[in-house]
Amino acid sequence: MQNIPVFIKKEKINKLVKKLAEEIVKNNKDKQELNLITVLIGAKTFAQDLIKEILSIKEFRINNYEVRLSSYKDSKSTGKINIVKDVEYVENKELIIIEDIVDTGLTLSFFKKYLLEEKKADSVKICSLLSKPSRRKADIDIDYLGAEVPDKFIVGYGLDYNQKYRELPYIGVLNES
Ligand code: IMP
Ligand code: MG
Repeated sequence: MQNIPVFIKKEKINKLVKKLAEEIVKNNKDKQELNLITVLIGAKTFAQDLIKEILSIKEFRINNYEVRLSSYKDSKSTGKINIVKDVEYVENKELIIIEDIVDTGLTLSFFKKYLLEEKKADSVKICSLLSKPSRRKADIDIDYLGAEVPDKFIVGYGLDYNQKYRELPYIGVLNES
């Protein structure tokens, strides 16, 4: 396998996850239940670690819904979002979307609107490990953000390039040359 240079090492990822878990617990300290929607497949690794961290701070009943959205062809966003696997039973719930990275913002601005308007969710917040603000095309608030990254294509810790490199324990930069 190609050698992928480290961009964010595992220790730093752990710190970001812990910080996000603390913020989520703090903002939901009066609640017994958290309703999360993990955006498959990329955010799965992050969501598992985040849930573990949240539960190590405070006990919650956690409903972890999963959705599969697709928009990506190679490393360029096509801008068209498909719901490959939809979510159910989210009506009247206060939801937190768990995402790996917000890039153009098209995926989550579409999905947030869909949850509120079509699925009749009560509220929708966004938690993303990473964000590339320089690539934004849709206006979107990230309520819980791990870190901003520059405009580079990154892989590992669940993030892929054409289904490859998800299993890297760290986040690396893909050299597309
Ligand atoms: P957006 O709709 O452009 O914000 O794209 C969001 C999705 O694109 C994310 O959920 C990722 O799955 C994928 N994506 C964006 N940037 C990267 C990257 O640098 N590496 C891997 N996947 C990415
Ligand atoms: Mg994703």
